[in-house]
Amino acid sequence: MSDELEALVAEAKSAMSQAANLRELDGVRVAFLGKQGRLSTLMKGLGALPPEERKQRGAALNEARASIDLSLDQAHGVLATADLNARLLAEKQDMSLPARPIPAGSIHPINRTIEELTAIFGAMGFSAVAGPDIESDWYNFGALNIPDHHPARQDQDTFYLPGTGADGRPLVLRTQTSPLQVRTMLGQEPPIRIIAPGRTYRADHDATHSPMFHQVEGLVIDRGITLGHLKGCLTDFLRAFFGISTLPVRFRSSYFPFTEPSMEVDIGWNRKTGELGAGGDWLEILGSGMVHPRVLANCGIDAREWQGFAFGMGIERITMLKHGIADLRPFYEGDIRWLAHYASSPLTPASLHEGV
Ligand code: DAH
Repeated sequence: MSDELEALVAEAKSAMSQAANLRELDGVRVAFLGKQGRLSTLMKGLGALPPEERKQRGAALNEARASIDLSLDQAHGVLATADLNARLLAEKQDMSLPARPIPAGSIHPINRTIEELTAIFGAMGFSAVAGPDIESDWYNFGALNIPDHHPARQDQDTFYLPGTGADGRPLVLRTQTSPLQVRTMLGQEPPIRIIAPGRTYRADHDATHSPMFHQVEGLVIDRGITLGHLKGCLTDFLRAFFGISTLPVRFRSSYFPFTEPSMEVDIGWNRKTGELGAGGDWLEILGSGMVHPRVLANCGIDAREWQGFAFGMGIERITMLKHGIADLRPFYEGDIRWLAHYASSPLTPASLHEGV
């Protein structure tokens, strides 16, 4: 390397050793190696030299450059460490500060009830199924032994939709989860043991009715199923769900087109205080019955071999009773003050109560 280049390298190294921080060091790099830097300018002059000289000068310039690069790396390492140490000294972590609160979501009471009843029926060997909110009126009514012009169709304030289903029948928003009985029987061989929680729709709106609400359907089909199975299953469920092992349960004969015989189920409560399980009054809570042979036939099931029971109940209703919620409307309003009170923590699992 020529004296002139050695001097340049020495000058660069001295400038580096004086750099107090990384920013100043970068200034040195730019001054020597940047596009307009001192060494880069010398490199540009190479082209004007005769070939022999150009080769020697080129090698010398490269050597100078490598030497400056190496020193830059070393200086960078030293300054970066110093920089980090200074920052660590200056920044103080106060370990006694409380953690910032993380806003936690919560589980809506309707979803929590669905989780709970799925856990209870799950423990009895039921699986949960789902189906479409839009049904043809065959699934919602016809297959369930509710023919056209049957009064039950008017009872249910059905929302009819434009167009027809794949079967050519009018489309409705399902008014009940009972079409899941039909879909399940058509889709799988007995024995069957399912529940079907989901949204249902009726054109009705006041403090105790919402146009959209939730039901859960239940269906058991097997050989030799009797009313005794229905009564035992629903009694166990209601006692487990409400967490009252002595909850009085009454089966009262009733009428549904899709069951024969049909029964409404009441639980004991105190009408004045709203307390469940005591008080001598009765509160209707669900509908049930032995699946009508005509419904079995509509679904291709031989009623001489297979019998079963079905039930259906309103999810809002059992949730309101369990938690003492008086008004239906806040369920759908998303008011976080109401949710803070009635919704539950996602960290608490849906538990099985005594009685199962
Ligand atoms: N689908 C009926 C309703 O919405 C409830 C019901 C009653 C369901 C009896 C059933 C049943 O499966 O067996 O009012």
